[in-house]
Amino acid sequence: MPGAGDPLFGMLPYPHRAGAYAEYATAPARSFAHKPANVDHVQAGALPLAALTAYQALVDTADVRPGQRVLIHAAAGGVGHLAVQIAKARGAYVIGTASAGKHEVLRELGADELIDYRTTDFTAAVADVDVVLDTLSGDVRSRSLDVLREGGVLVTILPHGYEDDAKRAAELGLRLEPMLVEADHAGMRAIAELVEKGQLRALVDAVFPLAEAGKAHAHGETDRTTGKIVLPVR
Ligand SMILES: NC(=O)c1ccc[n+]([C@@H]2O[C@H](COP(=O)([O-])OP(=O)(O)OC[C@H]3O[C@@H](n4cnc5c(N)ncnc54)[C@H](OP(=O)(O)O)[C@@H]3O)[C@@H](O)[C@H]2O)c1
Repeated sequence: MPGAGDPLFGMLPYPHRAGAYAEYATAPARSFAHKPANVDHVQAGALPLAALTAYQALVDTADVRPGQRVLIHAAAGGVGHLAVQIAKARGAYVIGTASAGKHEVLRELGADELIDYRTTDFTAAVADVDVVLDTLSGDVRSRSLDVLREGGVLVTILPHGYEDDAKRAAELGLRLEPMLVEADHAGMRAIAELVEKGQLRALVDAVFPLAEAGKAHAHGETDRTTGKIVLPVR
């Protein structure tokens, strides 16, 4: 367990009022793990929420296995680019949707196949998928059921308005799993281990001082970022 003065990283309990936009914050010790020694604080700060989401979706919920075909929507996004690496570390064949300009960096992170969602309908480009990670909901979530093989799992991290899709999934012999990230010591340790082994790194799209948090949010709301936005507190 962590001792006094140890550098830690973690996600403050959510959806409770977390209060992480602060120089000092408190949370239960189980929310944290030791910060990997091979990354700086900006990198460590970029990881917890998005990496835990990807980890809990792909590992805890879908139990991705070696050789499985995994489709990650918005693969260049904050959750998506970490999900690509976690799926790859599990030995999966990783397919991602992203605009063409982001394909090269996603290949470097381990994606095996990329679909430019602006020019190609993913349902025409991919089939026999074992696990889909839905980061977009709506039509993309509904149509994702059509690319899964029997017994496949669709994990949605937008856990609302999915009931009709869940019903159709059951009719098709598929599972739809809604998921909301939780603070998690074991998950943070697993993430730290992947980082230490060089299998997981965050792409940092932009860094804003905490005083410019408003600008950071406006930047995030463009929905075009690659990776994460970080707010160093000092
Ligand atoms: N359930 C949970 O616990 C949980 C946890 C974290 C996040 N979330 C939710 O998950 C969603 C994703 O979060 P995020 O932080 O990863 O998002 P993000 O970083 O803001 O996503 C931006 C990315 O989305 C891509 N994108 C936009 N439209 C797309 C489309 N139609 N097809 C493929 N890619 C597309 C963009 O790529 P291009 O620039 O190439 O278009 C961009 O790289 C959000 O709604 C967030 O609230 C849920």
